[in-house]
Amino acid sequence: MIKITYNGHSCFEIEYQGKNIIIDPFLTGNPNSKKKPEEVKADLVLISHAHADHFGQADMICKNNENCILVSSFEVVNYATMKKGVKNAHPLHIGGEHDFGFCKVKLTTALHGSSDEDNINVGVAAGLIIRIDGKTIYHAGDTGLFSDMRLIGDRENIYIAMLPIGDNFTMGINDAAYSVEMLKPEKVIPMHYNTFPVIESDPEEFLNKLPSTAEGIVMGFGESKEF
Ligand code: NI
Ligand code: MN
Repeated sequence: MIKITYNGHSCFEIEYQGKNIIIDPFLTGNPNSKKKPEEVKADLVLISHAHADHFGQADMICKNNENCILVSSFEVVNYATMKKGVKNAHPLHIGGEHDFGFCKVKLTTALHGSSDEDNINVGVAAGLIIRIDGKTIYHAGDTGLFSDMRLIGDRENIYIAMLPIGDNFTMGINDAAYSVEMLKPEKVIPMHYNTFPVIESDPEEFLNKLPSTAEGIVMGFGESKEF
């Protein structure tokens, strides 16, 4: 069993056999997060892209957790180590996978930008595939709809897909529901909505638009669930 906690926006924690992963740890400045960055326990910090609402407080979490490894694309890892003082990091790039012992992580394409707080471009945006406890989780990061989601769906046996539905910067509910037809996951958790007025979206409406093959799960802010 894995325990997944949703901290709002695109931030999820995954706990498995005493090991902890946090994805896109935007906690300070995230009005829906009940967790403070100083409370986070992490062995791996996974970052989809460098935008501040995804990189979040990754640097503080890495400093607070001994032996914690930041995992992201080569350019985001360089940004983290050269500009943010992160000591322990593992670079990946699109299509590449690495075994971290208790889980494997692979980067996928995402259709989006990636820049830092000075608006300097930092590589490309990515999605994440996490293999843990025999399950495959796909966290799409920030992305628009793209047809290679069909390739991801054909190649991967996705158990849970975490998909942005907030529109404006990413897919909205119609495109996200269509992406589920290509990705063919067993379960779908919406993310990247209702953090700011511009990405207000109704997750129940998204669930109503899902194909019948997928089970939609709306996680409350701060809620944990076992899978
Ligand atoms: Ni972004
Ligand atoms: Mn974002």
